[in-house]
Amino acid sequence: MVESMLKRTIEWKENKVIIIDQRKLPDRFELLTCTTYEEIIDAIQNMAIRGAPAIGIAGAYGMALAAISIKTTDKSLFMNKLKEVKKELANSRPTAINLFWALDEVWRLIVDIDESINNIKERIISKVESLAEQDIRTNYLIGENGLNFFEDGDSILTHCNAGSLATVFYGTALGVIRSVYEKKKNIKIFVDETRPVLQGARLTAWELSESKIPHTLICDSMAGFLMYQRKINKVIVGADRIAANGDIANKIGTYSLSVLAKTHNIPFYVAAPISTFDIKMKNGNSIPIEERNPREITHFSGKMIAPNNSMVYNPAFDITPHENISAIITEKGAIKPPYGKSISSLIQNMKRTGEKIAKP
Ligand code: MRU
Repeated sequence: MVESMLKRTIEWKENKVIIIDQRKLPDRFELLTCTTYEEIIDAIQNMAIRGAPAIGIAGAYGMALAAISIKTTDKSLFMNKLKEVKKELANSRPTAINLFWALDEVWRLIVDIDESINNIKERIISKVESLAEQDIRTNYLIGENGLNFFEDGDSILTHCNAGSLATVFYGTALGVIRSVYEKKKNIKIFVDETRPVLQGARLTAWELSESKIPHTLICDSMAGFLMYQRKINKVIVGADRIAANGDIANKIGTYSLSVLAKTHNIPFYVAAPISTFDIKMKNGNSIPIEERNPREITHFSGKMIAPNNSMVYNPAFDITPHENISAIITEKGAIKPPYGKSISSLIQNMKRTGEKIAKP
């Protein structure tokens, strides 16, 4: 039996960060080794690693790489340099809040600590390792909490890749699909290709193939007709940021799917960890939307498919308003409308029990 290539997306080994290079999939399975924080920034910007939780963990590993490379014995110089690195890492991609969350988690641990530079370096590494482990546990919990929303016979559409590759392992929205498949088996899974970078076709379909989970790939433009034909009866996606009122930012095309789902009376679910909530954002309108290189649209596999003097607009994400979302599935349980109320009571509960929430 051929062993599955699907392994941890990102790993710390002998002071190096090893990443599955997602630009090469599904053609080739290659690992990318990063030894500096600048290489991590490059990997995030070029999408060798992508997906909100994975970007967060990559950024935090970037802090660890930077920390071990700073050779000074002057503690305030060490902290100042690290603070600069944190800023640079935070500037690598703007939309997924998980990046800033993970960097803050590391920073909060060391900012007021009265210990030697060597101890601080060790603490950073073990903190990032524990954030990575926590991400995997969180995804399994999201998977379990999603089970109640699905039943035998469901035909589920997912968008982009909110799978193992978008996290350290297992995935959020695709994690729910995995756990439903494991328990109920008799479901149909539709994956849309997700233009322009094709995270659905290249990554989600690859993951499912590696896990031997049957699935059907469709073009983005086919989703509406399949809903009309009742060939799709549920949609589940991930999120890059969730505002206090339940509006979400996710891969471009998510909004259109939510409108189609509403029109066809189909439940539209979002699966995401609590670290994706940004309660400082009142609604989705203030979430920064990344604009990416026009080449992603004018070229396909390195080949030009549009005149190079055409104007191009390439927002990488869109906002789905909370009214279009049936439930948000987290590791703490599912949140239902009215989201303003349910999100704030979840956060209050977490504060009461001393648990940390997305942005301090
Ligand atoms: O541009 P990407 O590939 O980083 O976008 C990824 C998505 O939009 C995912 O759906 C989102 O990050 C959730 S991943 C668990």
